[in-house]
Amino acid sequence: MPTVVSGIRSTGNLHLGNYFGAVKNFIEMQHHHDAYFFIADLHSLTTHPTPEHLYGNVRQVLAEYLACGIDPEKATVFIQSDVPEIAELYLLMNMNAYLGELERTTSFKDKARQQPDNVNAGLLTYPVLMAADIIIHKAHLVPVGKDQEQNLEMARTFARRFNRIYNVELFPIPRPYIFEGQDMVKIPGLDGTGKMGKSEGNAVSLADSPQEIRKKVMKAVTDSGPTVPNQQKPEVIQNLFTLLEVVSTPDVVSHFDLQYNNCTIRYGDLKKQLAEDITNFTTPIRERIEMLLADDKYLSSVAKLGADKARASASRTLQEVRAVIGLKKFY
Ligand code: TRP
Repeated sequence: MPTVVSGIRSTGNLHLGNYFGAVKNFIEMQHHHDAYFFIADLHSLTTHPTPEHLYGNVRQVLAEYLACGIDPEKATVFIQSDVPEIAELYLLMNMNAYLGELERTTSFKDKARQQPDNVNAGLLTYPVLMAADIIIHKAHLVPVGKDQEQNLEMARTFARRFNRIYNVELFPIPRPYIFEGQDMVKIPGLDGTGKMGKSEGNAVSLADSPQEIRKKVMKAVTDSGPTVPNQQKPEVIQNLFTLLEVVSTPDVVSHFDLQYNNCTIRYGDLKKQLAEDITNFTTPIRERIEMLLADDKYLSSVAKLGADKARASASRTLQEVRAVIGLKKFY
């Protein structure tokens, strides 16, 4: 079975866009792959979160992924910092990562611009840590969003370079699996343009209450309505229909489509329906999130199981790496 590794940013509050992007792919992949999904808490230290935020976020993300249907018996679900072997491989890989290539990384340049007072070394070597995450399990495939393409290209470079320097074939060269495009629906935001994103402030979270969902949806941007029959929908309106297509039944969609086409549509009705159907979709997930967050014992058993499985795999690779490098035991 091919091995899949993917890291999850440790900022909580998954939204519908995440669900129909990353999460759905993970859920699908866990059945056909030796899958490792982990919460990248070490990576998030590059932005200096407070200890309370860091811990709370990791816990929330863990609960949310489990609530969505990531199965810790099928996939290996773990927290990055529970696997010290990753940190050691990161140190070793840093020896063959060059300042020039790290400085040229787009995500580094972006971050350096965003946080000019905190351009730390962890930010610079972020792609090295990410490579360590991936190759420590000898991953073949890495499901990531488009924004991670370059980081993954660097992981490929580092894996190839290690193999070449030591004349081994220890690491498979991991291939990206970009889950945007193809047959994936892009989930639009509620502000009329572009896709749903946490920082865009246009998102419906899986953990939002029915009241919050309703408030957000009713505020969604629309236009003044169609004036001629069968006219093409502008982006703001098409976006609402796209959301409807994802959470509602086909007859609901065609009902409003018909009304749009004969110019009788009332956007208020559409939004009410959309809010209700989003709520119906998210409610079981939200309830599971709440249940999991109230069950410390279960969360800790999941984290322990994942850490044990991940460490077993990671330490196997690390032993090979140490031997290849010449770090052999004298005792
Ligand atoms: N950098 C990824 C992101 O921001 C998260 C991540 C960390 C990751 N390590 C990884 C993704 C390894 C895939 C594989 O989304």
